[in-house]
Amino acid sequence: MTARNMTLDVALAEAAERYAAANPASAARYEEACRSLPGGNTRTVLFYDPFPLAMAKGEGARLRDLDGHEYRDFLGEYTAGLYGHSNPRILDQVREALGAGIVLGAPNRFEVELAELVCARFPSIDRVRFCNSGTEANLMAIGLARAVTGREKVLVFEGAYHGSVLFFKEGESGPVNAPFRFVFAPYNDTEAALAVIEQHGSELAAILVEPMMGSGGCIEGDPEFLGALREAADRHGAVLVFDEVMTSRLGPGGRQGELGILPDLTTLGKYIGGGLTFGGFGGRADLVERFDPRRPDAIPHAGTFNNNVLTMSAGVAGLRDVFTPEEAARLNANGDTLRGRLQQAADERGVPFRATGCGSILGLHWQAEPIRRPSDTEATRPAARALSHLEMIRRGLYFARRGFISLSLPLEASDYDGFVDAFADFLDEHREVLSDGATARAGPAGGERGPG
Ligand SMILES: Cc1ncc(COP(=O)(O)O)c(C=O)c1O
Repeated sequence: MTARNMTLDVALAEAAERYAAANPASAARYEEACRSLPGGNTRTVLFYDPFPLAMAKGEGARLRDLDGHEYRDFLGEYTAGLYGHSNPRILDQVREALGAGIVLGAPNRFEVELAELVCARFPSIDRVRFCNSGTEANLMAIGLARAVTGREKVLVFEGAYHGSVLFFKEGESGPVNAPFRFVFAPYNDTEAALAVIEQHGSELAAILVEPMMGSGGCIEGDPEFLGALREAADRHGAVLVFDEVMTSRLGPGGRQGELGILPDLTTLGKYIGGGLTFGGFGGRADLVERFDPRRPDAIPHAGTFNNNVLTMSAGVAGLRDVFTPEEAARLNANGDTLRGRLQQAADERGVPFRATGCGSILGLHWQAEPIRRPSDTEATRPAARALSHLEMIRRGLYFARRGFISLSLPLEASDYDGFVDAFADFLDEHREVLSDGATARAGPAGGERGPG
């Protein structure tokens, strides 16, 4: 307890009051939105208490909200904003594509170039197909695995997020999930996963796994665990799918390239469309070639906007000209440095805290307990997350309520320094309430956990 008899809940209530007073235009937009959108919301992850900031403009790695406050953007649109908000190469390319007409209803010149760039970059991708979201990419990968194996079951990991209809809590499927026959295992638990695979082996169409859990808390997969899944998939004739929708940025050849573990299929999304709506899935030629429409046994794959010229052109500019292998290495090194600096700031002040993740994706957790799977993050108190979120916003730093950060290319050294300074200042102001009873468990707070 501090001299002011402060508790975490009191500190949070005060921070929420300050936040509401500082953001009247965002509050008014929220009230208005509630009249036509449930809870003023059309994307669950963007909701948090007392109401979310609404943004008016983005430029480089900066955001400006409706009330005119400026932020350094450390959310990076949940990894889709890798290029920032106004990369000139991407804007030029999109303008050029716009000038040549949209919705052409035919193959266009950009899709081949994007496909070549993707195949050249990710070691397990011989052939690729495009779609409109990471969710769709995973649905298609599961569908393909089921079609080629003639089997039904899909192994997923507890607490994993693979899209709006592929959201898994501990051992249960989300209420609006696609009705596939899912079986579950705990992440990073090789023995338990192998037992589940053994049990369902001959019925298992696919194993779907993120090489680092993103929405699940930024939790790295052990190479030994992922390697064991590779071997078990081979042994049982199941298709190993790496969901690299978030993690493909974690190395020039994705996380698979860094680990040297190659899946049969990879799903992609987020930044690969240059910041426009995107999904993709690809992998072994013999599997993906099943979509070749010239084949008598061709599997159909439809999608009005699969090759839309704006996404295809933005994606080409991004992968070809901007996110080079050197830039991937630079951004991920920046993330590793930032993670270390944040951990050090908390350690020096004795605040229970874990900065997780890998390279340019970071998770901030207010707990001392180690984190190997999503259920381990329940030791983090939701009020500590909410307090840090609102208090960093007050200091001009924007990231997700659940403590999720993804870096973008236009962030500069002064932005990283600014983040660390603001974080240290926040810790200094709230050190005692963050440390008090830090192992106590609590229920969820608004916007604390959720899909996306
Ligand atoms: C690992 C992972 N897979 C799939 C998706 C779904 O992608 P989208 O939101 O484009 O449908 C996400 C989105 O956050 C994700 O993080």
